[in-house]
Amino acid sequence: MAGKLIKVENLKKHFASGMFRKNYIKAVDGVSFEIGRGETFALVGESGCGKSTVGRCVLHLIEPSSGEIYFDGINALNLRGEGLRNFRRRVQIIFQDADGSLNHRMKVSDLVLEPLKVHHLIRGRGEEQVGKLMEMVNLTPDLLNRYPHELSGGQRQRIGIARAVALGPEVIVADEPAASLDLSVQAQMLELMQELQDRFGISYLFISHYLNIVRLMASRMAVMYLGKFVEVGGVKDVFDYPVHPYTRALLSAVPSISMAGRQKRIVLAGEIPSPLNPPAGCRFHSRCPEAREICLEVEPELYEVTGGHLVACHFAR
Ligand SMILES: Nc1ncnc2c1ncn2[C@@H]1O[C@H](COP(=O)(O)OP(=O)(O)OP(=O)(O)O)[C@@H](O)[C@H]1O
Ligand SMILES: [Mg+2]
Repeated sequence: MAGKLIKVENLKKHFASGMFRKNYIKAVDGVSFEIGRGETFALVGESGCGKSTVGRCVLHLIEPSSGEIYFDGINALNLRGEGLRNFRRRVQIIFQDADGSLNHRMKVSDLVLEPLKVHHLIRGRGEEQVGKLMEMVNLTPDLLNRYPHELSGGQRQRIGIARAVALGPEVIVADEPAASLDLSVQAQMLELMQELQDRFGISYLFISHYLNIVRLMASRMAVMYLGKFVEVGGVKDVFDYPVHPYTRALLSAVPSISMAGRQKRIVLAGEIPSPLNPPAGCRFHSRCPEAREICLEVEPELYEVTGGHLVACHFAR
């Protein structure tokens, strides 16, 4: 794999909260990862663990509280003006719900052309460019004069993907990209994303609740819990040899993954604690079936169990 395209170092995002904005929601609390060219890196974890916040920081949509983000060797957080415009061309997003991201008063042809227009990249009337993009996402030209409400959910999602790839991006943040679609359409959408990756060498930061989809799409992944990574590694390593009790619990909840049903489902006690006041020591201790005294006091660091497979648990060694 060639040089790392995205490098994130000790990223934190704390949101001020409460009436006097004196408390902080530690949405993301020190995560590091890299994404190579043409690679798919996935983030998984329960609702509220900070996945989208990582994505929004990488997209330069919100400013991190601390940490560094490098894109193609450039410090992305310092970008302004032309540098930022260039970044916005090279790093794109696919939304969970294309419907909400499309202007309902614009026709498909204008929607597909919009990103090119914003970046002054339309050639002539842009007909040829629109044609190519429609073909790329397997949509027929007869849809060009329609409005979003005249399309199916799958077609709208394809328009969203066409808009994301219009500028020839190198990285796409895909935040639950197919979650709003039914299973067969979801599968088509994921296939299209893989096809575009093969053709153009796009890197994906792929955010999903669905472990089955992550196994299909990603080559490396991180499991997040309350703003931190608890396990990081190659998808095969994490799925075949999960080490962190949280990862094991997540995997055991997916019947087709839990070693063909041989592993018993691990049901985690209680709710995910609030990121306003995460537990001391290991953040997972309040729900961990294996927690011991040290877990209540000492926060475990990520530790490399085998090449590139890291786990933050006192008992991983
Ligand atoms: N703008 C904001 N202001 C205050 N708190 C926020 C903001 N955005 C996110 N949060 C909080 O940060 C935490 C992480 O949210 P985030 O959306 O990143 O989670 P997520 O893992 O993407 O969840 P989901 O799977 O439900 O999409 C949550 O507690 C959320 O309420
Ligand atoms: Mg989210």
